[in-house]
Amino acid sequence: MKKIIIINGANLNLLGKREPEIYGSQTFEDYLEILKQSFPNIQIFYYQSNIEGELINKIQEIGFSFDGIILNAGAYTHTSLAIADALSAIKTPAVEVHISNVYKRESFRHHSYLSRVCVGVIAGFGMESYRLALQYLSEN
Ligand code: DQA
Repeated sequence: MKKIIIINGANLNLLGKREPEIYGSQTFEDYLEILKQSFPNIQIFYYQSNIEGELINKIQEIGFSFDGIILNAGAYTHTSLAIADALSAIKTPAVEVHISNVYKRESFRHHSYLSRVCVGVIAGFGMESYRLALQYLSEN
C-alpha cells in the first residue's frame, strides 16, 4: 500500500474558521475523512504545523520512506528557501497545493520557492486541490 502524507503549514489549522470566503467552511479533519474513504488503497497520513522548522523536520523524517507528499505550506510557500532545500534533500516526490487560486490574488502570492522542487502545482480548486494531488500520486 502506498504511503502518502498531507502536510499543511501556517494557519491551515484554522480551515473552516479562517476567511471562509477564500478557504471554505469545511474543517480539514472533516475533509480528510472523506478523502480517506475515496482512497481506501492508500495509507493517508496528515501533519500540520505553524512552525517552519517543524515542517522541515517532518519532511526530513518521512522523505526517504514515503511514496508522496502533498504540501500546502501556506504563506511559507512564498518565503521559505529552507523548506525548498528540505524538499531538494529528500527522495519522496512532493506536489505543491493551494486551496485558493494564488494567481488571482495579491502579487506576493504569485512566487513560490517550492514549485521548482515539486513535481507539479495544483491551485484554486478549493479543498479538491488535495484530492487532485492524491489522484496523481496514487497513479504515479
Ligand atoms: C494558501 C495560499 C497562500 O498564499 C496563503 O498564505 C495560505 C493558503 C492556499 O492554500 O490557498 O495560507 O496556501
